[in-house]
Amino acid sequence: MDIAGRVALLTGASGGIGGALGRRLIAAGARVAFAYGSHSEEAEQLVAEANDAGLDAVAPAGDLADPGTPARLVGETVEALGPINILISNAGYSVRQEYTDVDPRAWERTLAVNLRAPFLLAQAVLPGMVERGWGRVLFMSSVAAFTGGVVGPHYAASKAGLHGLLHHLAPRVAGHGVTVNAVAPALIEGTRMLPAAPDGGPALPIPVGRYGRPEEVADLSMAVLRNGYLTDQVLGLDGGIHPR
Ligand SMILES: NC(=O)c1ccc[n+]([C@@H]2O[C@H](COP(=O)([O-])OP(=O)(O)OC[C@H]3O[C@@H](n4cnc5c(N)ncnc54)[C@H](OP(=O)(O)O)[C@@H]3O)[C@@H](O)[C@H]2O)c1
Repeated sequence: MDIAGRVALLTGASGGIGGALGRRLIAAGARVAFAYGSHSEEAEQLVAEANDAGLDAVAPAGDLADPGTPARLVGETVEALGPINILISNAGYSVRQEYTDVDPRAWERTLAVNLRAPFLLAQAVLPGMVERGWGRVLFMSSVAAFTGGVVGPHYAASKAGLHGLLHHLAPRVAGHGVTVNAVAPALIEGTRMLPAAPDGGPALPIPVGRYGRPEEVADLSMAVLRNGYLTDQVLGLDGGIHPR
């Protein structure tokens, strides 16, 4: 189950959770494509850190709202690093809107980035993983998929859609050494989605009493990637907000 030497495509590498996960992948010896949307500096920094550790890495750019981007990212990764063993579909778009205000544009973009792109990425990499007999696909969901959350109906629906997607895919590839799972975090600070806890702590009741940290999401994600017997699961990481 060693990650060392595996080729990983990580989307949203320029974000808070992506940065933490990228550093865990480097520490594990993976060769990573750190995909980003607009923040090139953060992604190039990860490439530099990987290179310093003696690992090949690239930072492909692309807007995942464009239906052509997933295949292009996969193609660029394969060309630079070789066949993809690990897909971490972590990029996410969230614009907070009341259900009364969500317009078709916000709906379409949210569903395109958060649900269509993860599907197109998985569709592009899974056949090769099956052929080679080893693979990992991990989607970054959210507690909003279970509770509805605070961002809006478009965001909650996009994340809940990931669960149906993984439940469809996982059994079809499970017999070929390929796992498909999701991590569903909540309220992770140190990200652009949630920059920092306000003074006095979180406004929402969280049983653990604080916001989560990107490193905690990265730790759980790495455990999922290392485990060949865990598949077709959504793992909550939410400080106890949503017991299941
Ligand atoms: N933070 C939380 O509390 C929380 C809770 C539950 C779930 N999540 C999920 O965790 C994942 C990571 O988010 P984060 O918390 O690390 O937030 P973040 O710091 O805002 O990072 C979001 C990442 O997604 C990328 N992205 C957004 N729209 C994109 C697009 N159209 N095309 C390509 N890339 C795009 C961003 O790239 P650029 O910045 O380069 O454009 C960035 O790398 C997301 O799926 C999010 O929904 C976060």
